[in-house]
Amino acid sequence: MSIIPNGGDGKVTVPELLQRKSSPAASPEKKKITCLTAYDYPTARLLDEAGVDLVLVGDSLGMVVLGYDSTLPVTLEEALHHTKAVRRGVQHALLVGDMPYGTYHGEIHEAIHNAMRLVKEAGAEAVKIEGGERRLELIARLTEAEIPVMGHVGLTPQSVNAMGGYRVQGKTPGAADQLMRDARAVEAAGAFALVLEGIPREVAAEITRSVRIPTIGIGAGPDCDGQILVLHDVLGLTFQEPPKFARRYAHVSEVISQAVREYCADVQSGNFPSDAESYHAPSALKVRKTIPMAR
Ligand code: KIV
Repeated sequence: MSIIPNGGDGKVTVPELLQRKSSPAASPEKKKITCLTAYDYPTARLLDEAGVDLVLVGDSLGMVVLGYDSTLPVTLEEALHHTKAVRRGVQHALLVGDMPYGTYHGEIHEAIHNAMRLVKEAGAEAVKIEGGERRLELIARLTEAEIPVMGHVGLTPQSVNAMGGYRVQGKTPGAADQLMRDARAVEAAGAFALVLEGIPREVAAEITRSVRIPTIGIGAGPDCDGQILVLHDVLGLTFQEPPKFARRYAHVSEVISQAVREYCADVQSGNFPSDAESYHAPSALKVRKTIPMAR
């Protein structure tokens, strides 16, 4: 039995996302694609029930949930563990598993094996890999192996050391041309969607016009076919200022801190638990002065 819900009943699928891109501008099918990251069952379920189209178990997991200072240390086992939890919460959205650094940079057969683990063991319906032209062969081989691939070009966080930091990409004419070549290569190799991260909106708009697959922007302006953000940035559950492109819709870290402070104060003052929050002995036992301790 499959752990992935079947198409129909509003289930978002790869063909449906491709269809949205090719639909005429004014048609009801031409809706922007909404994407967020999730790393655990409750948030995945809330996102899914709120109607998000695509849930990515991003390797941002390493920074926002596991406390690493980059995405580089994330292992395949960690990605599998979190993708399995998210799978249990997602019914409707398309579930994409991010391939961690080092799981697709060596031999192609190993990369395919690792991607298959995300699909077979964790229930991902697609995988995301970073890189453009240089991933052409890998994307083609994964696609041949029936694994839908989401590309990711521009500011690719796994290249932080090579880029010398998290810098906006594609700011010179030569760099913008390279981004266009990367996007076209990812499309030609068979990817079904392309994340554009940290690039000028004008470059993202031109790529979006030039490729037939949907572009999903993060720090790439409003003209992409869809948008993605890291959930913890959206919720205000991080320990630093969110990047310029991230919009904070809530202040969950303040809600958590306040709840925990109130709980501690109530325990200290004897205000928690109340009588209503306590179990009571049956009336027969209440007449006895002391209840014998269970041994
Ligand atoms: O790891 C991640 O969360 C990502 C997205 C934000 C695109 O790669």
